[in-house]
Amino acid sequence: MVTGVGLIGCGAIGREIARAVEAGEAGEARLVCVFDQADGLAESLAGGLRGEVQATDEIRRFLAAPWLDLVVECASPDAVREHAEAALSAGKDLLVMSSGALADPALAERLAGLAAQKGIRLIVPSGALGGIDAIRAARGSLEAVTLTTTKPPRGLAGAPGFAEWEGRAISEPTVVFDGPAVEAVKLFPANVNVAATLSLAGLGARDTRVRVVADPGAALNVHEVEAVGSLGALRFRMELRPHERNPKTSFLAIASAIEAIRTACTRGVRVGS
Ligand SMILES: NC(=O)c1ccc[n+]([C@@H]2O[C@H](COP(=O)([O-])OP(=O)(O)OC[C@H]3O[C@@H](n4cnc5c(N)ncnc54)[C@H](O)[C@@H]3O)[C@@H](O)[C@H]2O)c1
Repeated sequence: MVTGVGLIGCGAIGREIARAVEAGEAGEARLVCVFDQADGLAESLAGGLRGEVQATDEIRRFLAAPWLDLVVECASPDAVREHAEAALSAGKDLLVMSSGALADPALAERLAGLAAQKGIRLIVPSGALGGIDAIRAARGSLEAVTLTTTKPPRGLAGAPGFAEWEGRAISEPTVVFDGPAVEAVKLFPANVNVAATLSLAGLGARDTRVRVVADPGAALNVHEVEAVGSLGALRFRMELRPHERNPKTSFLAIASAIEAIRTACTRGVRVGS
């Protein structure tokens, strides 16, 4: 059965998802509408596609689009705060890429409650992180979870937590943040969705430790996860190529979004989740 997909956000991730859906890489998904707050961006994305896709900068028109089943948020944490409730209330399944917004327990609980009440799905893909399945399975026996994210300074530019380093010469790997995930997602909102996703799967945002390292020699975005508990230790290391349109986003995050859409739209075998 075909699933109608709508995108909130037509940036690096949104464009790649649109391309993949059109190329048939996301199973039975069909793109029906796109929405972006930036002037003309939704129209320009829809205009470059072969199929007929409704473009709008108005959320009400977006959610009223015919055949819309699954809303894919790939915009910003603000977009989750502004539009997630409306999407779920309209009875649409919702896939959230800006998982940093869900580090706010009140919002996460409200959205999860709404999805349960409506009998629909709130999906948080593993994004730029691997091993989320193992962390989730081991959750009950974990004692400590640490995420160390290493990026080139340009990949951290613009984040509030990086403001004091902006314009300063960083000549060697430098820890620019070390603290709980709940703080990290506020100070590095565009960079540490991984921290929020890891927190949701494991010990929560207050008890997950995050370190952010600026490394001028780093050509790749590196995420290292260490989880320790009574079952032993889990260690994962991701070395990820940044997307050329948006160096804050890794190709794996985009691939994970496409795979999550494919899974949501496909019946049958599911491996690893
Ligand atoms: N879960 C993960 O592991 C992971 C990995 C990478 C990126 N992300 C997140 O996914 C999101 C999209 O990433 P991207 O690289 O495509 O970003 P991008 O900046 O390239 O594109 C985002 C687009 O969304 C639009 N937008 C932003 N806020 C909006 C709002 N409130 N309403 C409507 N449109 C809005 C912008 O105008 C822009 O066109 C970001 O929040 C990013 O942090 C998550």
